[in-house]
Order: sequence, then C-alpha cells, then structure tokens
Amino acid sequence: MTDLATVLYTEEDIQRRVRELGREITEAYRGRSPVLVSVLKGGVVFLADLIRAIDLPLRVDFMSISRYGPGSHATGVVRVLKDLDHDIGGDDVLVVEDIIDTGLTLSYLLSILEAREPASIQVCTLLDKSVRRIAPLDVRFTGFDCPDRFVVGYGLDSGERYRNLPYIVAVSDQGRLSRDPGALEELVRNPELRPAAGTAPTG
Ligand code: IMP
Ligand code: MG
Repeated sequence: MTDLATVLYTEEDIQRRVRELGREITEAYRGRSPVLVSVLKGGVVFLADLIRAIDLPLRVDFMSISRYGPGSHATGVVRVLKDLDHDIGGDDVLVVEDIIDTGLTLSYLLSILEAREPASIQVCTLLDKSVRRIAPLDVRFTGFDCPDRFVVGYGLDSGERYRNLPYIVAVSDQGRLSRDPGALEELVRNPELRPAAGTAPTG
C-alpha cells in the first residue's frame, strides 16, 4: 500500500473478530446487564461496533483522561478530565479499550473504578501488545494479540489523525510520521487503497 504503512488487520478481519467477541460477551453476561465503559477517544469506534454485536440489555458510559505530564508515562497516573455520568456501584462493568500497551494507564484506571465497588469489573480490548506489558492485568476478552509496532486506524490515532480508517495499519517509521504527520492521508482520501479481503496476515 505505501512504504510507510502495512496492513495488519483488514476491515473484514476486524468485523469478524468483533462479532465473535460480541457472542463471547453475550454468553459471559447472560442474565445480566453490563455497563460498557469506554475511554475517549480511541475506544469509541470499537465500542460502537461491539455493542451492536452483543445481544443483551446494556448501558454505555465514557471517561476522558489525560496523563499528568512528564514522568506520568512511567506510572500510569492520569487525571480524570470527564468522569462517568452514572454511579457503577453494584454494576457489572466491562471496560472497553482500543489497545493495551504497557497497561499502566488501564491499571490506574481500574483502581479508580474498583474503589466504586462494582459487582464485577472486566476488560475487553481490541488489540493487546502483550509483549510490552509492565503492569500485570487480567484481560478477559482480547480481539488480537498485536505485534510491538505503532498502529493507526479504527479509532487509533497519530496526533489525532487516521481514526477513521476502517482497517488497521502498522507504521514502519514512526519518526518519519512525526516529522510529516499527514504522510498517510492518502489512505484516508483514497478508498481504492483499502486492502481487499484476505490480503493481510491475520493474528
Ligand atoms: P499504556 O498505558 O502504555 O497501556 O497506554 C495505552 C494507550 O497508549 C492507548 O490507550 C493508546 O491511546 C496509546 N497507544 C499505545 N500504543 C499505541 C499505538 O500503537 N497506536 C496508537 N496509540 C497507541
Ligand atoms: Mg486509549
């Protein structure tokens, strides 16, 4: 497609896996009504597709967080910019993430949510860069175990760009993309560059 990006997961790969996850979640929460919590903004594309693949009554709620500045990367400590609209005490909470990298942000977030005494709390992530994990996490539902590459598309951004690509690409040279942030815009503008079904290795 371009020398800067290679397709990791096609639209078909993602949609198929999302439907499977929806069925797994439907089975796991049978008889209950989970609250799906999404962290803005990367997780919303996945959440929007996932809830339509779950055959249960459910609610959605959103949080927005920001890192505390220099050093916060190493601890995961974040500031809550927008909290959930509703109390989750006694609820079955499913945190829906786009990607887990070191796990530091999510483990800090889980400690905030656990303090509110939900009946249960589980994690569903589309992508898991499990080789990068620093904070131990129990991830109940995983879409794909993702290689240690910088990825964009399907909600994942680089400087707020590329969230609207319906597929996910791995960036081969992150330095080049940060020097030229719009370098992959051709992928967004030109749907003919979209990978055809079955062209990407699945994982
Ligand atoms: P963690 O605390 O290291 O797990 O950070 C996870 C967060 O970093 C995700 O929610 C994303 O916002 C961001 N992130 C990690 N890897 C990538 C990537 O490859 N592409 C885009 N964002 C990423
Ligand atoms: Mg995120």
